[in-house]
Amino acid sequence: MRLARTVREARDALRPWRQAGERIGLVPTMGALHEGHLSLVRCAATECAIVVASIFVNPLQFAPAEDFGAYPRDLERDLRLLDPLGIDLVFAPDPADFTPPGRRTTVSVAGLTAGLEGASRPAHFDGVTTIVAKLLNVVQPDRAYFGEKDFQQLGVIRAMVRDLDVPVEVVGCPTVRDPDGLAVSSRNLYLSPGQRAQALALSQALRGVEAQWDGDADHARAMLTSRLGAAPGIRLDYAEVVDPETLEPLEGVVDGPAQAVVAAYVGATRLIDNCRLEPAGGRGAHPGEPRA
Ligand code: PAJ
Repeated sequence: MRLARTVREARDALRPWRQAGERIGLVPTMGALHEGHLSLVRCAATECAIVVASIFVNPLQFAPAEDFGAYPRDLERDLRLLDPLGIDLVFAPDPADFTPPGRRTTVSVAGLTAGLEGASRPAHFDGVTTIVAKLLNVVQPDRAYFGEKDFQQLGVIRAMVRDLDVPVEVVGCPTVRDPDGLAVSSRNLYLSPGQRAQALALSQALRGVEAQWDGDADHARAMLTSRLGAAPGIRLDYAEVVDPETLEPLEGVVDGPAQAVVAAYVGATRLIDNCRLEPAGGRGAHPGEPRA
């Protein structure tokens, strides 16, 4: 496993693999690696000869009042977790090299970024798409792997890749959960044991809505809102039922699939989760089901 700390080092490491025509998979992360990240790496390893993981706590996607400074950073630990997975290259650029003060260019996806996470975190997705575009330019992977846990992010990145004709296949991977249903997240590290128990309300509310899904988006939204509104220790940011493609809120009875998406604060920690609501007849995995 090689480690590249600059764009030049990454390009030098990748050149022979690209010249040999190997299929390259990229897993972008901000480090503080957990089972969710590792599942993306394992998926990439089954599909690609060369697997690259990037680790970069991206300053562009944090608002000034957010947790950029406090975000957990432990490169040694991350490398130890990645090493047994057969990774070929870890790209962990220095911020001075990757986001220098003189940079002037922002990649921005309109529309899809306005609601949900974008409403609460206005500059967030511009920061994500700018850095992901850079990572795709440096690594030039054949496939790039992202988690459905960040459902809106996945849709925004798919839109960017489509609109800019980036020659990469975006692969979405299912949300990894702890055995009690909580979606695994780097930010779960901020939770006290009591808060962690309270945080279960998110996946439980989603599981409840999925179990009772009858195609009525208004009913599902109201159920999510009332369950999370009543959950102790939870301050709801949003609970929505949206079209999985456009991310627009759905109203009334719908024929096609829907996505239930929630964001809430547990103490000072902001958590998100989501689940698919399949049209009646075809049900997906339950949000509270333990990972395989
Ligand atoms: P980060 O939060 O570190 O997540 C990296 C990738 O892991 C994302 O694609 C995210 O959706 C995925 N992931 C996180 N938790 C997961 C879980 N429980 N199950 C499955 N996948 C999970 O998302 C980012 O970093 C950044 O925005 C990034 C894309 C790296 C750009 O800076």
